[in-house]
Order: sequence, then C-alpha cells, then structure tokens
Amino acid sequence: MEKKIILSIESSCDETSAAIVINGREVLSNIIASQIDIHEKFGGVVPEVASRKHIEAVNWVVEEALKEANVTLEDIDAVAVTYGPGLVGALLVGLQYAKGLAYSLKLPLIGVNHIEGHICANFIDHKDLVPPFVSLVVSGGNTFIVHVKDYGEYEILGETRDDAAGEAFDKVARAIGLGYPGGPKIDKISKEGNEDAIKFPKAKFHEDTLDFSFSGLKSAVLNYINKKNMQGEEINRADVAASFQKSVVEVLTENVLATCEKRKINKIAIAGGVASNSYLRNNLIKEGNKIGVEILFPSLVLCTDNAAMIGSAAYFQLIKGYSSGLDLNAKPNLKLGEK
Ligand code: KG4
Repeated sequence: MEKKIILSIESSCDETSAAIVINGREVLSNIIASQIDIHEKFGGVVPEVASRKHIEAVNWVVEEALKEANVTLEDIDAVAVTYGPGLVGALLVGLQYAKGLAYSLKLPLIGVNHIEGHICANFIDHKDLVPPFVSLVVSGGNTFIVHVKDYGEYEILGETRDDAAGEAFDKVARAIGLGYPGGPKIDKISKEGNEDAIKFPKAKFHEDTLDFSFSGLKSAVLNYINKKNMQGEEINRADVAASFQKSVVEVLTENVLATCEKRKINKIAIAGGVASNSYLRNNLIKEGNKIGVEILFPSLVLCTDNAAMIGSAAYFQLIKGYSSGLDLNAKPNLKLGEK
C-alpha cells in the first residue's frame, strides 16, 4: 500500500489543532491548543474570541505537528481541513490557512466534514475496524445515529430534533452551577450522586423513530431546580446530575441498540465529546453485551475536537480520488454526507 502522509487542521469551535497522519490510521502527531480556560469565564464559547485565538494558534500548532512527527512540508501528500459544521469565523481561520499551504505546496486540499472526522477517530484507535457499522455521534452540536455503509458513505437513521446531547449536558451543568464545559463536570459529580433520586422524563417519542429530543428533559431539570429554589430547599447537585445523566444515557443506549437490531449490525463505534462520558460507556457495554453487540470508543483525546480525526477522514477521500477546489468555503451548517 502506498504511504500517504496528510497534514490536517481543525478549528471549528474552541480547539486549534494540527496533526500528521499516515494512511488514515497512524498518528505521528496531534497538537491541540485548547481555549477552554478563556471561554470558561463567559460560561460558553464566544465566537469572536474563538476566531481570534485560532489566528494566534494556527501557525504554532502546524509547526509543532511537523516537528513532533519529524516530517517537513516536502513529505506531505495532502492538506486536510475541517470546513463545517462549526462556527463560521473559527472555521475560516483553519480553512484559509490550509488553502494557503495547499496552494503554495501544490498539494491536494481536502475539505472534511467535522462529524465525519469524529466517526473516523475510531479508525485510528481500532486498526481492524472496517465498515459497515453503526455510529452514535454525540457532541456539543450534534446527536446522530448513523449507518456507516462504507468509507465516506453514511445514512442518518436518527437525530436530535432540538438540543444536542452535549448541549443538554452543558445547559444543565450551568443551571446547577458547575460551569463550562458541563459534560465532564456532570460526569464527575454524578459518581457521588444517586441516579434514581429524581425521576426525570426520558426523552422518548411515541412514534416509531430513532430520533432524540433533549429539550423537554432539560426543561424538567430547570423546573425542578426552580421549584426547589422557590420552596427554599437546597438541591443536591450530585443527585440532579446523576439522574439527568441516566435519563440521557438510557435513551441514547436504547435507540442505538434498536438500530443495530433493525439493520442486523453487531458493531457500534461511538464518536464525539460525549463519547467520553463514563456512564454512557459502561451502560452501552453492559447492554450491548446482552445482545452480542460490540461497542468501540476512541481514546479520550480523540473523542473531543482534534485534527488527527480530520486527517483520518481525509485519507479515505484521497484514496477515492476526491479533493476540494481552492474555492472551498466554510459551511457552518454542513450536514453529514453533504458536499
Ligand atoms: O466533540 P466535542 O469536543 O465538540 C463538538 O464538536 O461539539 O464535544 C464537546 C461536548 C461538550 O458539550 C462537552 O460538555 C461534552 O462534549 N463532553 C461530555 C464529556 N466530555 C465532553 N459530555 C458528557 N460527559 C463527558 N465526560
């Protein structure tokens, strides 16, 4: 197999990252400059601040990625970059940088869908993983159940009709005073709480659908907190977090396992920031075991935003002969499977 070395760049939200990846599966470097500390004091990502910080970091992460991988720009076969979905100003920073590099080095430019990148993170950690499989994509902006039919070939079978799972985690965390980003904080505090303490509604539709809805659950948590405040009662944050988390995880688990049964597939690869949730991981493994479904996760660093996953997705496009023009633009609402 011919060796292809890809330099990839990711800047869709609050992480500036560059990576060097060989043949979509071997990561030589994956440098991530996180802005979490800066956005934390605002309680969420401030888009204009994010764009400015990407500008400051992008050159540095690329230089570090080359240095750590011990390669030079002459060794690179293609430049890959996230072009959506994400914050438009943030995306444009990585995109313009990648275009400049590809043009000056006369290399193919490969625009990558960020969600596809999350799915492909699994190819890095699971060297034998090949399609078909089912993927549950759970991040700050997206919640999808996807049938991965082949490399780059996706059918969305279920999606959120309102908030993404990560967004619900972040909003509930803010409401109980845990701060941003809420997912990891809820995950942690839940370990001290009782998951059966409060009966929050399960975000389930009555129709025959694999879609999700998390806004009703989020409202139920907010109502619970308001009621307790009005009654002058203290809330037990760990119990609220654990009960909320259980509600989210049960629905994610039920829907993704139902998809496997429907499609007769016995492998699920989880992707996105929420895939690092320990309760989700344990619950999926437990329930998957009961019906013979194997559950795969990327390592924690590959769950959240990073450029290695973008380099992996780009490789499978490159070997199919796809590349982007220099007129490639940022697409903040890019859907999976859309060009
Ligand atoms: O994939 P990601 O880094 O960025 C997007 O592409 O959205 O995901 C970020 C989201 C945030 O909402 C964050 O709260 C959530 O992933 N998250 C978690 C955990 N770690 C990150 N949610 C639940 N439990 C976690 N351990």
